[in-house]
Amino acid sequence: MYSEVSLNTINDKGPFLTTILFSVQDRVGVLDECLSSIRNLNVSLTRIESRPSKTPGWDYDFFVDFSAENAEQLTRIVTTLEEITNQVKVVSATTTNAIAGQVPWFPRKKSDLDTFANKVLEMGEELDSDHPGANDPVYRARRSEITRIAKTYRHGQPIPEIQYKPEEVSTWGTVLRNLMDLYPTHACREHQYVFPLLIQNCGYRVDNIPQLESVSRFLKECTGFTLRPVMGLLTSRDFLNGLAFRVFHSTQYIRHHSKPFYTPEPDVCHELLGHAPLFCDPDFADFSQEIGLSSLGASDDDIEKLSTIYWFTVEFGLCRQENEIRAYGAGLLSSYGELNYALSENPEKRPFDPSKTALQKYIVTEYQPIYFVAESFKDAQQKVREFAKTLNRPFSVRYNPYTESVEVLDNKEKIIRYTQNIKNDMTILIDALERIH
Ligand SMILES: [Fe+2]
Repeated sequence: MYSEVSLNTINDKGPFLTTILFSVQDRVGVLDECLSSIRNLNVSLTRIESRPSKTPGWDYDFFVDFSAENAEQLTRIVTTLEEITNQVKVVSATTTNAIAGQVPWFPRKKSDLDTFANKVLEMGEELDSDHPGANDPVYRARRSEITRIAKTYRHGQPIPEIQYKPEEVSTWGTVLRNLMDLYPTHACREHQYVFPLLIQNCGYRVDNIPQLESVSRFLKECTGFTLRPVMGLLTSRDFLNGLAFRVFHSTQYIRHHSKPFYTPEPDVCHELLGHAPLFCDPDFADFSQEIGLSSLGASDDDIEKLSTIYWFTVEFGLCRQENEIRAYGAGLLSSYGELNYALSENPEKRPFDPSKTALQKYIVTEYQPIYFVAESFKDAQQKVREFAKTLNRPFSVRYNPYTESVEVLDNKEKIIRYTQNIKNDMTILIDALERIH
């Protein structure tokens, strides 16, 4: 009934994305016994699913997903389970390499993002010479104190609060006060809708810097997005991979007080004024996750294309609303100067088309000479999804929100299970429609 992989035929090196099926007869504690035996081998499960067994003589079938380090560990797991039940099958055991030749590693579950905690490209603890705080030892010490939180933060923990100093709050207040003047005429509809809610619920005020934890909890209620503290700039691959799990890596420190309208790196003003409001919007959240899912296991070339799309949308995107052009990119919504400039007649504006946008060169140190205008977030998501089909990745992935993990749809069983889920959703939909009638 279920396809089975013979352990003797596994020649590849691990790790293996594995699904095991085991059947049990109903008795108290049997599932716990089976799962403990796997856990005792230092394997963390990413999915457990049960269903009544279709095999005569057995009561329940259990499917468990996990990553096995190598063939030996996989064999040990099977042998251990066989001591409890002799009905054990390896339904699939796929190596990353077997999926696509040489596919770069990518996180499979949300907690895998912990591996990025210490990986920052630049400005982790050292500052470039052009950073306004580079020669200020007090600022540098304070910034390091805050980045240490990100270094030790692990998935599932609340984000520690920062007691911001009066000087830091004053910098935030200066930035916010100026931007609030422009938002009514320059920010997109979605930003304008959610901003008062952030004021009400998360303490967005000129005399208070909101805490990441509070904003993250609010985002989660809106769209399932969460914030995760980060020390500085991640690689494009790691950063985009986080979006696949609806996780946005966010800095917690603030720019140098000497230049409140300039920062060469993301800071808490950029994250909370530019990014956070948009992640409250369901369509924008879907769009951002779409880019993230496309980045999982993508080639270096494709990562570059996706990060360019990210740059011209999530960071510097414009959109058309009621015959006007408005800003939704965080780099614009957190910069008084560039927000004004972007909506003026000066820069060139082109329609958002991922196949062209992905190839557009850009500069990071000056205002953009070209911006791309999306018709809507839904339209942009659809276009990115179509574009993703052209990328060089021979498998599809889907995000499972129940297990907070990514499923690689690379075998029949998984695709059938996914189809079943969609079928269940369709049943609910039809039922709801009938009740409305
Ligand atoms: Fe950003």
